[in-house]
Amino acid sequence: MKHEMFVIKDIEKAQNFSTTTVALITSSSDDRINVMSAEWTIRSSIEPFMITIFIGYERGSYEMIKKSGEFGLSYCSERQGELAHIAGNYSIRDTDKFSTGKFRVFSSSMIKPPLIENAICAFECRVESEFRVGDHAAFNGIVLEGYYSDGEKPLVFHGGKFHHIGETIKH
Ligand SMILES: Cc1cc2nc3c(=O)[nH]c(=O)nc-3n(C[C@H](O)[C@H](O)[C@H](O)COP(=O)(O)O)c2cc1C
Repeated sequence: MKHEMFVIKDIEKAQNFSTTTVALITSSSDDRINVMSAEWTIRSSIEPFMITIFIGYERGSYEMIKKSGEFGLSYCSERQGELAHIAGNYSIRDTDKFSTGKFRVFSSSMIKPPLIENAICAFECRVESEFRVGDHAAFNGIVLEGYYSDGEKPLVFHGGKFHHIGETIKH
């Protein structure tokens, strides 16, 4: 069977065709807590277990993570698109996102910021190091604790919109 392919050259639009997850990054400093959405997170070491997150310097979360040296990551389930929208479109600089009453949390055991309930999985991280990548800061986090919700499905971020995950491919 002939498979047609259309390749379009466009450096900006091309990145919109990649696919990611969304993590709700929680942070805390000076007795305030915050939550922001981040699609740029990745496991970056097996042993020790580490996750690296990429945070814009202008984010309120940047300052809070820098100051406290820790962060929580709660990966959105497919039922948490609204949370990803709120956390990713409002800043602690002018909005207390927790005052919306939409974010249900549970206490972390090793870090101060809480984690978000009903996430598909969640991790507590201590910042091990930080480096600059262009216009974002990369925080390398040592994973101190992890949780998962069996039965939840992940939220998929593609083309600037949230999606459900598709069917398993059998081969
Ligand atoms: C789906 C989604 C993914 C995002 N991913 C990132 C990311 O990986 N890194 C980042 O710095 N900002 C990312 N953002 C933008 C921040 O979440 C946004 O600027 C937020 O308002 C920052 O909040 P804060 O100022 O309270 O920290 C994302 C936004 C959305 C909607």
